[in-house]
Amino acid sequence: MCGILGLCLADKNANAAPELFEGSLFLQHRGQDAAGITTSGPKGRFYQCKGNGMARDVFTPERLSGLVGNFGIAHLRYPTAGSSAGSEAQPFYVNSPYGISLSHNGNLVNTLQLRKYLDEEVHRHINTDSDSELLLNIFACELDKTNKARANNEDIFTALKGVMERCRGAYACSGLLAGYGLFAFRDPNGIRPLLFGERENEQGSIDYMVASESVVLKAHNFKKFRDILPGEAVIVQKSGVVEFKQLVPIKDYTPDIFEYVYFARPDSVLDGNSVYHTRLEMGSKLAENIKNVFTGKDISKEIDVVIPVPDTSRNSALECAVKLNLPFREGFVKNTYVGRTFIMPDQKKRVSSVRRKLNAMESEFKDRNVLLVDDSIVRGTTSKEIIQMAREAGAKKVYFASAAPAIRYNHIYGIDLADTKALVAYNRTDEEVAQILGADKVIYQKLEDLIACVNARTKENKITNFEVGVFTGNYVTGVEDGYIQELEKVRAQNQKLKELNGNSDHNAKAESDIGIYNLGDYK
Ligand SMILES: *[C@@H]1O[C@H](CO)[C@@H](O)[C@H](O)[C@H]1NC(C)=O
Repeated sequence: MCGILGLCLADKNANAAPELFEGSLFLQHRGQDAAGITTSGPKGRFYQCKGNGMARDVFTPERLSGLVGNFGIAHLRYPTAGSSAGSEAQPFYVNSPYGISLSHNGNLVNTLQLRKYLDEEVHRHINTDSDSELLLNIFACELDKTNKARANNEDIFTALKGVMERCRGAYACSGLLAGYGLFAFRDPNGIRPLLFGERENEQGSIDYMVASESVVLKAHNFKKFRDILPGEAVIVQKSGVVEFKQLVPIKDYTPDIFEYVYFARPDSVLDGNSVYHTRLEMGSKLAENIKNVFTGKDISKEIDVVIPVPDTSRNSALECAVKLNLPFREGFVKNTYVGRTFIMPDQKKRVSSVRRKLNAMESEFKDRNVLLVDDSIVRGTTSKEIIQMAREAGAKKVYFASAAPAIRYNHIYGIDLADTKALVAYNRTDEEVAQILGADKVIYQKLEDLIACVNARTKENKITNFEVGVFTGNYVTGVEDGYIQELEKVRAQNQKLKELNGNSDHNAKAESDIGIYNLGDYK
């Protein structure tokens, strides 16, 4: 999972980089592994700065001042199986045809086939394990088919249609074509989110932005915005002319439900759904489920207090407490200056970092039966430690509720959770999971309830279903034979590399890893 941005300013003399940087801070939660910006101006030269680390570490004022041009794209990388080794930060660049720079959020699932095609039929060199490099090269190869000195909108749309026909999986992308402008597109299932917005300037000219979440558009005053539809693309030419095109028919409009469970910011609205309201609804449904688990008993005698596991679950936990008519207390205080453990790809670190990140307040646990609410349970290592902390703080009974159903399968569309076998709920009943975690009970959301939570809030109800493969093992795009095995192999390789390099600190500073950047002397 990653965050992407694109920006085209009407003022040819303005620089897009400062706003791309500001915008990337609003998307930092989508990926803290690496960050990159490419900008360009009317003359067509690309300026690029990318490296490992958080946006604020990579984009220093000095480097930003070297990024000139009134349009550009940005990328925030979340470590996925294919991309976490080395410093393969995006945007990626190819020089032919025309010069293309691309940011990709998502994951392709027919990579073996694409790799073979690029190698054997179109003879393109692929240098990384990243599926984003494959996607960019497929686009380059489709665009090359025009065989013209200069491409036009029609050529770009035709090439993107070719991409959609060849590539299977999840992709929301923003890209630059040198000397031409900005383009963006979304896969035919709309698995990953992407929005397009307009901002009218005082003089009446219009700036355009594409972003993974609406929160960036709102923050930057792009008041008029909408979701890019599955299978749709948009081109913003450097002259400011905008054209949308539905390239392939929407087969199924199936966004990844995990955005609502965990990934997106609560203040974002994706595909017409407020993430915050969806999370409230999850708390409400979870409460019904908990009442069922304690059927025939007086809940207020069984549970003394509801305590959220910070931060994502707080919205759901509060609503759950209200619906159960129980007190809601903050039992864990978070040290905000430690990064998210979820982002840490290293298992050993993950265990100890829970205590670095959270502190249990004894006054809230002592001699109480507590209901802990989390957004989801993945490997279970964090949950286990948290339950232990609750007990050490004096809790009598510890019930653990998950606002998401049991995660039993790989996430294959860009949120690299874990190999199937490393998931605590894999091939286990809820009772077995409870035993492993050391909880008195584990209560999961039901999948049909989760789906209802998101659907309940859909204003226009364009969505036909959701991508829920992590819960069911059935993925909307299907997967190529051998894909999951390949994914797990690459993941294991990267894990080994990381251990060898001792490179598991996700807060690695960017300095030593900057690939390309331009000093401010080109202006
Ligand atoms: C599932 O668990 C049972 C034991 O609980 C074990 O016998 C079986 O081999 C496991 N299946 C898989 C596919 O891991």
